[in-house]
Amino acid sequence: MKTKIVHVNELNNEDIYEEAAMTLRSGGLVAFPTETVYGIGAYAMDSAVVKKIYVAKGRPSDNPLIVHVGSKEDVYQYVSEVPEVAKTLMDAFWPGPLTLIFKKNGTVPEAITGGLDTVAIRVPSHPVARGIIHASGLPIAAPSANLSGKPSPTIAKHVIEDLEGRVDMIVDGGDSDIGLESTVLDVTQKIPMILRPGGITKEMLLSIIPEVVYDPHLMNAASDETPRAPGMKYRHYAPEGNLEVIRGSGAGVIEYINHAIEKANKDGLKTGVIATREDHAHYRCDIVLTIGSKDDPGEIAGNLFRLLREMDEHEVDVIFIRAFSEEAIGTATMNRLMKAAGNRYISIE
Ligand code: TXA
Ligand code: MG
Repeated sequence: MKTKIVHVNELNNEDIYEEAAMTLRSGGLVAFPTETVYGIGAYAMDSAVVKKIYVAKGRPSDNPLIVHVGSKEDVYQYVSEVPEVAKTLMDAFWPGPLTLIFKKNGTVPEAITGGLDTVAIRVPSHPVARGIIHASGLPIAAPSANLSGKPSPTIAKHVIEDLEGRVDMIVDGGDSDIGLESTVLDVTQKIPMILRPGGITKEMLLSIIPEVVYDPHLMNAASDETPRAPGMKYRHYAPEGNLEVIRGSGAGVIEYINHAIEKANKDGLKTGVIATREDHAHYRCDIVLTIGSKDDPGEIAGNLFRLLREMDEHEVDVIFIRAFSEEAIGTATMNRLMKAAGNRYISIE
């Protein structure tokens, strides 16, 4: 398949939204930026079209997709019930990086829900995503625009690397600013449950509604039970290089990492560290990439996926990362990092 790659600017945006909308209306796949990460969009209510997404990504088909709509009024077409708590959250956080899980109605095909009786919906805030959704007038299924298992793309270059030849069109609309996928919140439960942490944190939700819990499987990653968001059970977000996460607060962590680097280098391995600005100068290794200030969880979240991919470009064999603070969006950053590391970490006191 020939992929058309286009760059959006202020002069051509309306034309590009219309062209993307035409492609979507005729059952094509269009990758575009959202405020979280890039997504691969397709018309959500046609099973045959939705199946093309699974093929393009190489994704297991039991992993359900998020339906992206233009406004909160659209939700009522696809769900059997909108709980009061959901209305409150939609008013507070839409458009934005919050996905809500509703009981679905009969219009939503099984290909979207992976056979579940619920459907995930969000209203993105990115102007390009909104422009395309509005121009198409369609509900758009849009998983992250990576090949299954790879880190989600936050820049168009990474989308092109994964999907050129696999989708009809890639719309380059600049960088996604949050850099991690949306928070997935199940509002069909008595107490709303976070199935995937993201840009809207538990504290932000609790500032609007009285109770929120995390899916217990998120906390106990080693458990064999299936997490409630099917996507959370797969090893995911992983770079090619072997990832080692080291937890600890003291200078011992840096010492440990430098020692491990030396050993890996002796074994002929190329080493890399993804470091905070504060730690950066302390590492003696082949490639050190700076992710942001330890005191700026948003900056760290915004750079994680991009830097994991850059380590692959450097063909690094072992990547060391000191665990980040779990303040604010840091919960989501550490969730993705631990999944990328297959939930393994080393603790240094
Ligand atoms: O930020 C985002 O959400 C991005 C952008 C492109 O919008 N999209 C994204 O989609 O991350 P995807 O397909 O990569 O992740 C969807 C997540 C998966 O973990 C999936 O299992 C979960 O949402 N999910 C979807 N429908 C669900 C449902 N009915 N019940 C539980 N989890 C669901
Ligand atoms: Mg994904």
